[in-house]
Amino acid sequence: MSTRHFLSLLDFSSDELHALIDHAIDVKKKLKAGTQHMPLSGKVLAMIFEKSSTRTRVSFEAGMSQLGGHAMFLSPQSIQLGRGEPIEDSARVISSMVDGIMIRTYEHERVEIIADNSRIPVINGLSDYLHPCQLLADMQTWFELRGEIKDATVAWIGDGNNMCHSYINAAIRFGFKLNIACPQGYLPDDNLVASANGLVKIFDSAEQATTAADLIVTDVFASMGQEQEQQQRLLDFDGFQVNQTLMAKASNDALFMHCLPAHRGEEVTTDVLEGAQSVVWQEAENRLHAQKALLEFLMR
Ligand code: CP
Ligand code: NVA
Repeated sequence: MSTRHFLSLLDFSSDELHALIDHAIDVKKKLKAGTQHMPLSGKVLAMIFEKSSTRTRVSFEAGMSQLGGHAMFLSPQSIQLGRGEPIEDSARVISSMVDGIMIRTYEHERVEIIADNSRIPVINGLSDYLHPCQLLADMQTWFELRGEIKDATVAWIGDGNNMCHSYINAAIRFGFKLNIACPQGYLPDDNLVASANGLVKIFDSAEQATTAADLIVTDVFASMGQEQEQQQRLLDFDGFQVNQTLMAKASNDALFMHCLPAHRGEEVTTDVLEGAQSVVWQEAENRLHAQKALLEFLMR
């Protein structure tokens, strides 16, 4: 069988994603019960980080240890990639020595080049275009708290960025309705929206997108690599903050998610982030459990 990669949620079928989340919930229970589960004994994951990370790094590194394997942190400055060794050559060499590669980088094409030159599974730990690992954790969190998601309406408020694109992919695979509200000039990839079979609706008003929604999700106004646009974005995203007034438009039992790190007072107010409807800490913890299920699926 050819090597499977996880560059996008669309690399997995709907059935595979549901099974993966069921397994993540099981793996979480095992960990909480103190039951050892080490199916990746002797396996090594190389983690290339061309951007900063707290959750992704800690969850993959802790996850590999808990599964009986080992994770290796590689920053561009510490390997020849940072001195101009082609990414293709780096992928061929690294993949000849370890059992899996996780990469966080800028252009999505770099993740694809690594996968094209790798004999072992490659995981996208975030690119400018997609952040599929975060969606595994978000979907696990929803399934734990609410069960099936296909009849739910999700509202994405803010930038049409990598997280927004992965929510579109999640709508395609899990079948939920996705309302997206972005300022002019910050819309998601229109080809991706068009491929979503009518599940995705675009709004220019956060209030309209949020009305009667069951899950409200946002992310920072300026992603990694866009720091110089921060001041302009603060102006352009006026009206796209998730606050209590906006949350009041959603269903009474709506949940709030954010991939974190959050900028309190910008895309979300502190009272929403720390409020009763927010599940962001469970969502963050689930990065660990969901990715352990992913690592087992790909590397076992
Ligand atoms: N949500 C997320 O990916 O966080 P990090 O950037 O800390 O990995
Ligand atoms: N959209 C954000 C997500 C961070 C986890 C970024 O790319 O910086």
